[in-house]
Amino acid sequence: METISPTTIVIFGVTGDLAQRKLFPALFELHSKGFLPSKYHIVGFSRRELSTESFQKFVKEAIVSFSKKMPASETELADFLFHVSYKQGLFDNADSYKNLADTLSLVDDGFGQCSNKLFYLAVPPNLYEGILSHLSSSGLTIPCGGDQGWTRVLIEKPFGRDVETAQKLDHHLSDLFQEEQIFRIDHYLAKETLQNILAFRFSNALFEHLWSGEYIESVSVKLFETLDILGRGAFYDATGALRDVGQNHILQMLALVAMERPKSLKPESVRRERARVFEKLTPMTRKNIETHAIRAQYEGYKDEQNVNPESETETYFKLKAFINNERWKDVPFYLESGKALKETKTEIVVTFKPCTTCLCIDGEKHKHKNSITFTIQPNEGVSIEYFMKKPGFDSVVEAQDLSYIYRESVGDVAIPDAYEKVLYDCIRGDQTLFPSTSEVDLTWKYISPIIEHWKSVPLLSYERGSHGPQVSF
Ligand code: BG6
Repeated sequence: METISPTTIVIFGVTGDLAQRKLFPALFELHSKGFLPSKYHIVGFSRRELSTESFQKFVKEAIVSFSKKMPASETELADFLFHVSYKQGLFDNADSYKNLADTLSLVDDGFGQCSNKLFYLAVPPNLYEGILSHLSSSGLTIPCGGDQGWTRVLIEKPFGRDVETAQKLDHHLSDLFQEEQIFRIDHYLAKETLQNILAFRFSNALFEHLWSGEYIESVSVKLFETLDILGRGAFYDATGALRDVGQNHILQMLALVAMERPKSLKPESVRRERARVFEKLTPMTRKNIETHAIRAQYEGYKDEQNVNPESETETYFKLKAFINNERWKDVPFYLESGKALKETKTEIVVTFKPCTTCLCIDGEKHKHKNSITFTIQPNEGVSIEYFMKKPGFDSVVEAQDLSYIYRESVGDVAIPDAYEKVLYDCIRGDQTLFPSTSEVDLTWKYISPIIEHWKSVPLLSYERGSHGPQVSF
């Protein structure tokens, strides 16, 4: 393990859902695995008045409720909590940042040297601009160790809600920070099976040569959830499924399947190749939108709390996307996601064309199409469907399956949670799994016109717990 100089992690909005469910369990796991710097401290910053003791109790409860490696011993927990403290403050008040700076100096005094600073904005996006400006004007983003230390900022999606707002946020960010200080989180990129796609594609001669429209018939990217909007009515109604998961998670999954081989595994090479895919997405037009986009809403959505009773917001979408380059010309990419569906499943299915010739029984249609399924969740793995003669006297060809299921091989605990990976990489300064400015810009350039045009497409309805609307392309 490389040595990292002392590091202080400041979490804004620390009493919120994200910190409770994801960040503290992830930080605790990293601590237990010895993956945090040998000297580190976490300062929670929020509006609520809390003593250090009550804050530590809050953190302990979050870990006990949401960490997957349970039960942790009391000693292990106490050891982690020793690294955690709280600072009350207002996000829009300059004095609060001065107080925070004083607290951080005290932490540095404890380390006996100036520490790296990682600012995690676990707050609603409308607060980003104010917090970032205060961080910058209070001097907190200037590394106190000169060339030795760093300061980084981690922000959560959504990065804007269309091209203009995303560009505005980016201009603001780039006025205050260098690109290498900015870590935009799309936690899907940090999911284990997604990280595997590049290794799988570029380490297996068996598939690499077939990875194009010459042999591949279609690609489906699905993100299905049984959960509904879980009381997030105000946010969701203003957002919709396409902005919530389409512009980011789904398009990033598509990029990993479709991108060209990067020159190296260096962050800039990988991010550049992902961006190139977005650049080549064929724009949807008012003319073709009806045959390329489906949007729908689950029954009862309009009765959810804080949802407009006349709402036209989609909770489901399916797009037929194309990538206009030599490798993928004319290959449809079906991008689909929905809430309150029958199953929770995120997967990518690559379906191959049938062989050009068929040793089929007379009159039988050629239906043997190989497929590769990358299951992102719930049961991470990769499986390949292929065809064989069924043992016996008759000449029957049947489908078989070669699978690698992560949990069966390495167990649950060995698969890091995406937030562990996000924090781990940010501390090490590796931006590979974080979308770049140009990725954010290009994905909005693809998504925004769809949102604009599809008002002319009827909003369908589907039953809760169903497979979504019963229509297809
Ligand atoms: C978030 C969306 O980005 O991703 C949520 O805002 C969605 O609406 C979630 O439920 C899905 O993430 P995961 O990791 O639970 O599949």
